[in-house]
Amino acid sequence: MAIRKVRVMGDEILTKACKPVKEMTPRIKELIDDMFETMYEEDGVGLAASQVGVLRQIVTIDVDDGNQYVLINPEILETSGEQTGYEGCLSVPGKRGIVTRPDHVKVRALNEDMEPYELEGDGLLARAICHECDHLKGSLYVDLVEGKLEDLADLAEEEAEGED
Ligand code: NI
Repeated sequence: MAIRKVRVMGDEILTKACKPVKEMTPRIKELIDDMFETMYEEDGVGLAASQVGVLRQIVTIDVDDGNQYVLINPEILETSGEQTGYEGCLSVPGKRGIVTRPDHVKVRALNEDMEPYELEGDGLLARAICHECDHLKGSLYVDLVEGKLEDLADLAEEEAEGED
């Protein structure tokens, strides 16, 4: 396993659509392991393969619910409800913004053994599924932000000033 370099906004690869995975290979298995390791190292809850420079439809998610989700060739089947809240992205370091997403998502994907399964998620899991599936299409959350993209360094400064 290895930590891979996370591509940041401005890198053209993040704007490109990912291709489906046709078969599981040792290389893809290693990629998935590396994606988890990279995601944990960077304190993220989700990662798409394009973020580490591989244009394949692979997503890893861990929202601290005791599961490590691998979604290969994911397809969102249903969405419902609405949630509005802050979102961030490892490819947009130091920023956050308000994004409205469905509150419930049902997705079909393949697991690491290339077996189809369906996953339903609410709240943060639903948000993560939507965010990561957007990455696979070459979209970043910054295009969905309501209001302005906030700079976390500025916020920390304002908070410090307010403590006088
Ligand atoms: Ni992201």
